[in-house]
Amino acid sequence: MSTKYYPLHIRDLRRETPDTVSVAFDVPLELRDTFRFTQGQHLNVRAVVDGQEVRRSYSICSGTHEGDLRVAVKKVEGGLFSTYAVERLRTGDTLEVMPPQGHFYTDLKPSNRHLYVAFAAGSGITPVISILKTSLVQEPNSRFLLFYGNRGFDHIIFREQLEELKNRYPDRLAVHHVLSRESLGSELFQGRLDGEKCRAYGRLLFQPAEVDAFFLCGPEEMIFDVKETLENIGADSDKVHFELFSTVGMPKTSNPAATTRKDTFDASVTVIQDGTRFDFQLTSDGSTLLDAAMRAGADLPFSCKGGVCSTCKAKILEGEADMEVCYGLEPDEVAAGYVLTCQSHPKTKRLVVSFDA
Ligand SMILES: Cc1cc2nc3c(=O)[nH]c(=O)nc-3n(C[C@H](O)[C@H](O)[C@H](O)COP(=O)(O)OP(=O)(O)OC[C@H]3O[C@@H](n4cnc5c(N)ncnc54)[C@H](O)[C@@H]3O)c2cc1C
Ligand code: FES
Repeated sequence: MSTKYYPLHIRDLRRETPDTVSVAFDVPLELRDTFRFTQGQHLNVRAVVDGQEVRRSYSICSGTHEGDLRVAVKKVEGGLFSTYAVERLRTGDTLEVMPPQGHFYTDLKPSNRHLYVAFAAGSGITPVISILKTSLVQEPNSRFLLFYGNRGFDHIIFREQLEELKNRYPDRLAVHHVLSRESLGSELFQGRLDGEKCRAYGRLLFQPAEVDAFFLCGPEEMIFDVKETLENIGADSDKVHFELFSTVGMPKTSNPAATTRKDTFDASVTVIQDGTRFDFQLTSDGSTLLDAAMRAGADLPFSCKGGVCSTCKAKILEGEADMEVCYGLEPDEVAAGYVLTCQSHPKTKRLVVSFDA
């Protein structure tokens, strides 16, 4: 996985709603392979905004067949980069962009006759529409059911595109908008998209046990409420896939693979990156492995620093570390010794961590 940033020009910038823009990048011919993506993946972006370096992640909203590398950014109240992107970015500007990353997808096969069900809210539609478009093209016999929650009609990102897709695939795509502050004439689709609504849809509109994969993306509360409900109404938990955009307000230990460590202590740490070893002493001030290493002079990859994007992933070769949260790792990666360094604290006095593994 390349964690290098490449400067990419903005080829097209489209206002999708009053507070959302989609941004398409110009990918030079020699970087086409580097920026090839799988549906549902995201890009890490680096920019300097008002003199401050910011790193953020944005999901790709294009289908893999569309020849377009496009993300969508929705303005978050008081948000540094999202406000900059929505209000000040222009076509022709340059952003530094890392090649696509992420595991929010399932493998597609033309012979599949699958049923996919997605629950998205607000900007959570971004990876979901990529998955939806790609699945419908790559699997001509599969069907897709989308529940998409927003405040009102004007806030529906990709509204026209979803309409067009519905017309193109009348028998294979169903889109149900769920609005919290406007009425569509049916109580079933009015209110917040949550576990209760999911239970009702699972009774009336799909059979949970017959769904091949669920995709959830939106605010954390929605994701975990819907996920728990799906599992309670008969969905196989292995089939429920989700993408978190942040862990603001999430309990630190809500992931079974995560642990919280309070009694940190000094450790002698070696970081291996690009074949080079970097040694430093981590003192017990509660800093994460990533922050301590960067303070000591290492230049390491990271983006969200919230345990969700997995850019800071590394493998422990010697010693042990605890993580605060680890949403960005699959259980098999945790079992193989990978950690998110932005969430890690040494558990042993000697630690060797490789970013090359
Ligand atoms: C894998 C991944 C994919 C993502 N994909 C998208 C995407 O497709 N579209 C998109 O718009 N965003 C996406 N995000 C979120 C994005 O990376 C930023 O977190 C978001 O744009 C806010 O950045 P900011 O600089 O504007 O806000 P900041 O200046 O970082 O934060 C400002 C305030 O907003 C709060 N905040 C931060 N992020 C969020 C959030 N997501 N929701 C609510 N409050 C928040 C912070 O706690 C803070 O109080 C994704 C994140 C990840 C990890
Ligand atoms: S920087 Fe995103 S998980 Fe660590």
